[in-house]
Amino acid sequence: MNEKNSFGLDICFGEKNNPFELFKEWFDEAKKTELNDPNAVALGTSDDRGYTSVRMVLLKDFNETGFVFYTNFNSAKGLAIKKNPNISMCFHWKSLLRQIRIEGSAEQVSDIEADEYYSSRKYESRIGAWASNQSSEISNRKELTDSIRNFKSKYPEQNNVPRPKHWSGWRLKPRSVEFWLDGEFRIHERLKYIKEKNDWKKILLSP
Ligand SMILES: Cc1cc2nc3c(=O)[nH]c(=O)nc-3n(C[C@H](O)[C@H](O)[C@H](O)COP(=O)(O)O)c2cc1C
Repeated sequence: MNEKNSFGLDICFGEKNNPFELFKEWFDEAKKTELNDPNAVALGTSDDRGYTSVRMVLLKDFNETGFVFYTNFNSAKGLAIKKNPNISMCFHWKSLLRQIRIEGSAEQVSDIEADEYYSSRKYESRIGAWASNQSSEISNRKELTDSIRNFKSKYPEQNNVPRPKHWSGWRLKPRSVEFWLDGEFRIHERLKYIKEKNDWKKILLSP
């Protein structure tokens, strides 16, 4: 028989008192087993009309303060988050048959943090952050390639491309994090951490 934790769940759920340590364990495994982009995560937003939208982003950092991704703050998601900071993330690692769902509120990362990450990106990606008005309509592809060319001539030095003010990161500060493992005949295993003041309460959910 497989080993179980104190909740009777698969041993991979461990006995952690906060979700960050367990996230790290699962994420580290996903890095070994996923074909590509283990840090790809579905990001759910909803605007001030209550309209929802979901798209993939890349998780670029995480620690006990939250889960960070970078984007254009004038994009559709950026504008939605400014109106309604309640957002969610969902990882699905097919190679592990696992899912992690995170819900909470978004907070902008500091300029120092954003600058540090921005400067680690390739020159072309930094130029792209200037050249693309993400989520706005363009009349043809040439408009974009012209814009890229213009910004390359404006910032010809690879090490001297400032970060656009509208390009930065959001940190999802979680209210809850749910870990899910595929089970036989859809009798899956679910462990949810819920933030209560400075502690995390753990509950089991029916599949
Ligand atoms: C695997 C994957 C990773 C992505 N990572 C990011 C990202 O980190 N930041 C980002 O702005 N867009 C990323 N995108 C593009 C977004 O999914 C989306 O097309 C774009 O951000 C515009 O979304 P919006 O119009 O809802 O703002 C990624 C797409 C894929 C498929």
